[in-house]
This record gives sequence, C-alpha cells and structure tokens, in this order.
Amino acid sequence: MEVVIVQDAAAGGELIAGSIADLLRRKPDALIGVATGSTPLPIYQALSSLVGSGALDASEARVAQLDEYVGLPQGHPESYRSVVLREVVEPLGLKESSFLGPDGSAEDVAEACEAYDRALWQAGGVDLQLLGIGTDGHIGFNEPCSSLASRTRIKTLTEQTRVDNARFFGGDVDQVPRHVITQGIGTILEARHLVLLATGEGKADAVAQTVEGPLAALVPASALQLHQHATVVVDEAAASKLKLADYFRATYAAKPDWQGL
Ligand code: F6R
Repeated sequence: MEVVIVQDAAAGGELIAGSIADLLRRKPDALIGVATGSTPLPIYQALSSLVGSGALDASEARVAQLDEYVGLPQGHPESYRSVVLREVVEPLGLKESSFLGPDGSAEDVAEACEAYDRALWQAGGVDLQLLGIGTDGHIGFNEPCSSLASRTRIKTLTEQTRVDNARFFGGDVDQVPRHVITQGIGTILEARHLVLLATGEGKADAVAQTVEGPLAALVPASALQLHQHATVVVDEAAASKLKLADYFRATYAAKPDWQGL
C-alpha cells in the first residue's frame, strides 16, 4: 500500500479531492464509495470548492454509502443517508437517483444487506472507495474480528465506537444505535481503488497497526494490505507512530506526478 503523509486534514482533503476530480474527468459517471464521520469532511469541502469554482463538473458522478445505522427513523439527521445527502449529494449537485445505500429501516435486514451487495455489483462496482478508520481499527463498521471475507451484513458496534460517535447524538451514548449495516471487508476490497484518510493523534495507533502490523482480523483496516491499489493518507499526528515514516515521505516525494494517487 502507498502511505502519503500530509501536513494536516485540509491538505489530505485537497489531495484526495484532486484524485477524485481526476477520476471524474476520465470517467464522469464513476461510482465513488463515500464514508461518513468527521474525517472525510475536508474531502467533501474541497470537492465542493472545485465544483463551485467551475473546475469540476461532478453532475454525472454516482455515490454509494459504506454503512448505515439500523433503526433510526427515516430522515433522521444522523442517519448516514441524511449525512451523505447533506455533505455530498447536495453540495456537489449530484442526482439523488445516482445515490446507492443500504436500507437501515428494512424489516428484513438480511435481505437488505444482500440487496445492497447486488446493487453495487449491478452498478459495475465501486471505482474509488473512501474510508476513515476507527480508533479500534475498524473500516466501515467492520469491528475487530470481522471476517476479512465478509459481505454486507448487520454488525453490533463496540462500546468504544458508540462512545466515539456519541458526539453526533448530543453527547448521549444511549442515542447511538447498537446495530449497523456495513459493507463487508470482502465487499470493500472489491473496489478498484481504496483511499483511507486518517487524521489526529487518536488514530496513530490504529494507523501503525494497519500499515506496519500483521494482517489480522483484530485490526480490520489491515485488510488493505491485501489490495493492489490502496492509498493511506495521514496527517502528521496520525503518522506519528509509523516506524517507516521517513521512507514513506521520501517515496512520495520521488513519485512521478503522472502516477497520481
Ligand atoms: C463511517 C465509517 C467509519 C468511520 C470511522 C471514523 O461511514 O465508515 O469507519 O470512518 O468510525 O470516524 P471519524 O472519521 O468520525 O473519526
């Protein structure tokens, strides 16, 4: 995998937005897998600026959710569908019809999960999947010990993840749903390009284990080691526990521009 160390979250957002813009210029209807949470917001802000300035037309782009809470009422502002509509679909001027996501309020959750994997496949697969990382190393909501071959399915959040996400629910952990639908690790690995952004000191341990630790279900993000095109973009704080940081810096500095991310 490639590790790119940037100064801060804004620089990471701009770098990744630039890569998405290049993809959309080559393939206007590319399917972009979008993560939620705080980390990817600088990417979406940088993309919005490119669209706002006329440097990018994203109107044909398609987006697919990575995960969704189970059981939130339809239209709840913190459902990931609402977040993606608010942060991505509306500011980038995408068609709502080009937006794929699992149905977190389905009565038959297992069928909703299978239907989502089918929908991704029928849409031609994800071209570029954005990922954040949990403090416990989760990607999507594949919590530690998730099968590295898993498909989209229901998962139970760890207490740590619910505490981490309580900030989106007025600081009240009891309001954070216990269950989620998440693309499985096997599903995520089918995307053509994986781009994980991690920012802040709180992610430094998870990043070091992902990049330099063994491949292990205990650290779900380490599955990126299996992918032929995985890019990990980290700010200085999130990179602070990487032993090979100098090597990663030198390699990226020497990279020919035409290669992109
Ligand atoms: C959300 C998701 C999660 C988050 C992770 C980090 O769609 O897939 O894996 O990326 O929990 O969240 P933040 O960015 O809020 O620290």
